[in-house]
Amino acid sequence: MNTPWVHKTSIYQIYPRSFYDSNGDGIGDLQGIIQKLDYIHKLGFETIWISPFFSSPQADTGYDISNYTDIAPEYGTMNDALQLIDEVHQRGMKIVFDMVMNHTSIEHEWFKESSSSKDNPKADWYIWRDKPNNWQSMTGGSGWHYSTERGQYFWSSFLPFQPDLNYRNPEVKKAMFDTVRFWLGKGVDGFRLDIFNVIYKDVEFRDNPFSFKLAPTEDDPSGFFQEAKYTLNQPESFEFAKELRAVCNEFGDRILLGEVSGNKSIIRRFLGDETNNGLGLVFDFEMLGFQFTAGYFHELIQRIETHFPEPFMPVYVFSNHDRRRSIHKLGNDLRKAKLLALLQLTVRGVPCMYYGEEIGMTNLPQPFATALDPIPHKFKLIPRFVFDALGMTINRDEVRTPMQWNSDKNAGFSSAEKTWLPVHENHKEINVERESLQENSLLNTVQAIMKIRNSEAAVREGSLRLLKNLPEGVLGYERKLENESVFIYLNFSDTKREIQFTGVKILFQTARSGEINGGDIQLGGFDGIILKPSA
Ligand code: GLC
Repeated sequence: MNTPWVHKTSIYQIYPRSFYDSNGDGIGDLQGIIQKLDYIHKLGFETIWISPFFSSPQADTGYDISNYTDIAPEYGTMNDALQLIDEVHQRGMKIVFDMVMNHTSIEHEWFKESSSSKDNPKADWYIWRDKPNNWQSMTGGSGWHYSTERGQYFWSSFLPFQPDLNYRNPEVKKAMFDTVRFWLGKGVDGFRLDIFNVIYKDVEFRDNPFSFKLAPTEDDPSGFFQEAKYTLNQPESFEFAKELRAVCNEFGDRILLGEVSGNKSIIRRFLGDETNNGLGLVFDFEMLGFQFTAGYFHELIQRIETHFPEPFMPVYVFSNHDRRRSIHKLGNDLRKAKLLALLQLTVRGVPCMYYGEEIGMTNLPQPFATALDPIPHKFKLIPRFVFDALGMTINRDEVRTPMQWNSDKNAGFSSAEKTWLPVHENHKEINVERESLQENSLLNTVQAIMKIRNSEAAVREGSLRLLKNLPEGVLGYERKLENESVFIYLNFSDTKREIQFTGVKILFQTARSGEINGGDIQLGGFDGIILKPSA
């Protein structure tokens, strides 16, 4: 089988501000990432995706870009970026940048010019109107903002300082495609595409219909009493995905990983036609709201297999820089975290793991009032328990705290007196150094599973078949490539289960107490196992 590398890779997400600080200013940087590449390589991930580190006023920590081809000084220089690309490639790894195409910062020269008058050369580079319609932004409230300078309203899908570009203007498209070419030309292996689902808005600016929905959910991003019919997932956006793919194809096989939302049929459309000529990979955020049961994952995998059959490939993601860390949903139970990792790294799909998940880093609750993240300031009048009850992360600082490397000062992240966000005090127990010495730690579990993923082609690129007639609470699937098969069983219950199997060897077991008694294999509570038929 000829699976493209982008479909059999594994992705590790780095939030650069929090990964490793090489110069002691309390902020992670590109040289810091370079110093930690061997760690990621050893862990077994092939691709790193780095959240934005371009010039930016940092009002949304880099997701508000003021120059796409320049590096923000706190992260380093262009030379550092080029060195990073090179060092990644020297290790046989790949590097993916974060491309925020939908909007710029209000500090971008394009916006400054566009807002200066109604008839400047870039007057039509953003979305301007004399009067707002009823559209709400993704963060709630009208997304129209008045510019006194220009005497008109501009549209922002996200926050007021992130004006949306107008992709109906061919000059904008060209400028952004040239940016993409600029980085691909420097050797970047692809992009994660920020809020790609809002890139086009309705050409006629029709009002969005009323909806009873209060809060946006993963499978339906409508909310704030409005159906986002004309602001999300427009037909032109699906076509745009194909155009962007064509640009990337000029450079060979490259990752385009879309941050999109909606039900599976909708997000599938970003992958293009039957020939898979669109983005290639999209996040499916429904799984971030997982229930930790065999039944939930059985049904999820079934639906994913129906919507993303060959030549498509799903992405499995359980946390990122915007959502709660996955261990929160697992009641901080490490047995469950190991089982979730086993599923994520062996199911048919590209796994995308957020930094710190491999050691079980937890959220660090922090007051809204002092948040660096702009979102909580929008909601400061609403008591926190409301969001907690809805399972929403409003203060994203809580999931972006510095990486916990060891039990020293600042968890070994930085030598500064003060780090940009506080370090979690649990770094004394939860850190890389400590866990690398504990044989059965979460870190060593992830590393061991990655080793199997990287050595067994069936796990990386084989087909998936869900197994039937298993004991209650057990999920099982076969991964198969030509004549090679690997079987994975996950016990989602907290009591012992037995599986009948003959003629196999155990490649790995999360509880590391695997026993084969005749034809029976024992699984402890929340235990998982990888088996391979003996040759
Ligand atoms: C995406 C990013 C998020 C950012 C927003 C606006 O959702 O993941 O961090 O704030 O887009 O760019």
